[in-house]
Amino acid sequence: MELCVIGAGYVGLVTAACFAEMGNRVVCLERDPQRLMQLRQGHCPIHEPGLQALLHSAMQAGRLAFSDDWQQALAAAEVVFIAVGTPSQEDGSADLQHVLAVADSLGRHLTHPCLVVNKSTVPVGTAERVARHIALGLRERGAGFVVEVASNPEFLKEGSALEDFMRPDRIIIGTDSAAASQCLQRLYAPFVRNRERILLMAPRAAEFSKYAANAFLATKISFINELAGLCAQLDVDIEQVRRGIGSDRRIGSHFIYAGCGYGGSCFPKDVRALIRTAEQLGYPAGILQAVQARNEVQKTLLFKALHQHFGGFMRGRSVALWGLAFKPGTDDLREAPSLVLIDALLAAGARVQACDPVALGGMAGRYPHALATGQLRLSEDPYACVEGADALILVTEWKQFRQPDFLRVRGLMRMPVVFDGRNIYDAQELSTLGYLYHGIGRPQVGHCKVTAA
Ligand SMILES: NC(=O)c1ccc[n+]([C@@H]2O[C@H](COP(=O)([O-])OP(=O)(O)OC[C@H]3O[C@@H](n4cnc5c(N)ncnc54)[C@H](O)[C@@H]3O)[C@@H](O)[C@H]2O)c1
Repeated sequence: MELCVIGAGYVGLVTAACFAEMGNRVVCLERDPQRLMQLRQGHCPIHEPGLQALLHSAMQAGRLAFSDDWQQALAAAEVVFIAVGTPSQEDGSADLQHVLAVADSLGRHLTHPCLVVNKSTVPVGTAERVARHIALGLRERGAGFVVEVASNPEFLKEGSALEDFMRPDRIIIGTDSAAASQCLQRLYAPFVRNRERILLMAPRAAEFSKYAANAFLATKISFINELAGLCAQLDVDIEQVRRGIGSDRRIGSHFIYAGCGYGGSCFPKDVRALIRTAEQLGYPAGILQAVQARNEVQKTLLFKALHQHFGGFMRGRSVALWGLAFKPGTDDLREAPSLVLIDALLAAGARVQACDPVALGGMAGRYPHALATGQLRLSEDPYACVEGADALILVTEWKQFRQPDFLRVRGLMRMPVVFDGRNIYDAQELSTLGYLYHGIGRPQVGHCKVTAA
């Protein structure tokens, strides 16, 4: 099929590359000139495992092109995917300006009937709004055709996006039109040998399903984090409890890992948007509010623990941070817990030495002043990062941080203290090596005398 994907971000690029891989011809429309130039030169602007190679091969095969020209991008399109951002507005609601701007452009530029599919995460009723915006543009131009709009929320996870897109748990198609449904089922057929994975529903239910999924996953995380706080007070190890409950098939082992909070471009904003929707309807959404509030607290825990460890004297302390991206496998820093921690450390006068395999570029743009003064140093090498540090904090559990040479690390640090923000280390093992270990919701293990900064 001939496809147009609007927006070359995490979702748009993966969608474009995967559809092209299956033999479709795709034009990806992007308005950011720098991003467009990078893509045309064959450089993937984001870190997503396998994406660069897939984009390259699709471009070489002539099945994928990038453009900022609406007429060119839409000329042959049978299906147009909208994959632009829907960030939070100040009141928490989803900002639809990009989605609606795309709808207006479609109304101005479409010259033939096609199916418009919304992949962005949007509040209930947005497919109808998009259809109205397109129809208005078409009517103003006297175009004698109508355009259908379907909802097809995306469930890929950054870090495993290609795998998720190629082998999805489910594909949700929200439409009342049999023709639109058939078209999308045909397009997705190569990705789902088992047709039961395609779920057909009303557009509004499809839109809501995406929020429901993210809100549920965020709830699991905040729930275990709340229990972790209780464990810490009761001298119980949340890791043992996690195993104790995760083995129950009704509960399951996913998303019940205690840690320093969830971040990223989806969970925080989607929970916020759902809360705002409930507020607008006058519907009490106490669970969602608690999920959000718990996460805000969780993001501050590491700093509080460190502050307590140093008896409140943070100025001049050197703190090493492993992992900055909001999760392993991505360079995405949006709403990452590391940012809350770094802000607090810098404000308290600590020196920060941070390490991440792919997110340093994004980091440099956020903290130009601290970098210029030397209060913040960035490093790709975990060992260089810990040199002279008074404490090491694991924030994002990249594979390269899972089994470091802790003997070597101890030799490089000024004080052997580890704050494990993801509970990935063996507390006893670290204690045997002479470390003081703090986890999230785990008893403190080991001893370390705090010396002057
Ligand atoms: N990132 C994820 O893991 C993920 C997963 C599932 C769903 N989603 C949802 O998908 C949507 C896109 O998310 P993302 O992370 O890919 O966003 P992103 O910010 O990475 O990318 C959006 C892209 O769209 C471009 N764009 C914006 N307006 C445009 C316009 N008018 N014309 C052309 N291009 C335009 C931007 O320049 C940017 O490159 C959001 O609604 C998000 O909630 C994201």
